Amino acid sequence: MPSTSPLRLGLATALAAALVAIGPAAQAHERPQTTLADLAQRHGRYFGSATDNPELTDAAYTRILGNEFDMITPGNGMKWYATEPQQGVFDWTAGDEIVNLARANHQKVRAHTLVWHSQLPGWLTGREWTADELRAVLKNHIQTEVRHYRGKVYAWDVVNEAFNEDGTYRETVFYKTLGPGYIADALRWAHQADPRARLYLNDYNIEAVGPKSDAYYDLARQLKAQGVPLHGIGLQAHLALQYGYPTTLEENLRRFARLRLDTALTEVDVRMLLPATEEKLAQQAEWYGDLTRACLAVRRCVGITVWDYTDKYSWIPAFFPGQGAALPWDEEFARKPAYYAIRDALLG
Ligand code: G3I
Repeated sequence: MPSTSPLRLGLATALAAALVAIGPAAQAHERPQTTLADLAQRHGRYFGSATDNPELTDAAYTRILGNEFDMITPGNGMKWYATEPQQGVFDWTAGDEIVNLARANHQKVRAHTLVWHSQLPGWLTGREWTADELRAVLKNHIQTEVRHYRGKVYAWDVVNEAFNEDGTYRETVFYKTLGPGYIADALRWAHQADPRARLYLNDYNIEAVGPKSDAYYDLARQLKAQGVPLHGIGLQAHLALQYGYPTTLEENLRRFARLRLDTALTEVDVRMLLPATEEKLAQQAEWYGDLTRACLAVRRCVGITVWDYTDKYSWIPAFFPGQGAALPWDEEFARKPAYYAIRDALLG
């Protein structure tokens, strides 16, 4: 590596001195690269992105991931199939890689997820369990994983996607075998293993007030009344232009705040029917701006995470063929109107 010449050092010092001399306003002008995280921090919020291990070999990708965000969520690496691929045999490779990267970049980690009906290992889904057996399996999984990451993560999505659209409990293996009490148990076990982690329930389609978010509201109220360690509700916010904007988002965030709960927008993306047009991208930008302002308007909405930041690594096209362009950076890492709308909302 070439060493830095005295001439370059001298120029850098002179430039730094000049910036100090001309004051903060001019410096801000000189630094159009103020990051979303910088701007969110001015409001006491974070701005995060999900990421996934295979993408971490892409240097153009990791440069922005490391610079622009102050909170990282592993998209897959901490899920049950990845962390306990055989019963009682734990593998932290994927999760640790992301935690270490976040630490190197001075970022915090929202950990995702301990109890979910999807992406479970075959040994768990491939047989029947008695309630006692499954309770022991669940407790061991939660406590081993939470202990492993104790002190290294800011928050956990303890239970993910526990309700159906109509507000009834999703008939997962956990619900069917253990009854609804598995949620309180999971929160208590996680809290024992890391008393400092912020513990969340997390779901999609709960951005607006409606049957599904009402189910969370009612459950959260009961859990708080029982002294169960629940600290927040994660609203995934996988939005789609063709289904309309959840206009009651702010009101919804407020009612959870009144229960003394944090909220966070945890998996934001705004997909559209392809091809993306200028009009659709403009509408998408408006939605990103609106959801950012909704979070900023409610003190206990602690931050926003996009479900990865670039269309290059979005989950959408594989799951919703013909849809995509959901994130604030395009496939070539160019900033889209959505990025500027978030920035403007954070600038106030
Ligand atoms: O690991 C295999 C790999 O070995 C194989 O070659 C490849 C071929 O398709 O598949 C890989 O597994 C994929 C896995 O992601 C890891 O990349 C699965 O097919 C794919 O289905 C899985 O998708 C994940 C999805 O959850 C599963 O439901 C997405 O990446 C992840 O972003 C997504 O995240 C969820 C949140 O956890 C909860 N909320 C909804 C959100 C979007 O579905």
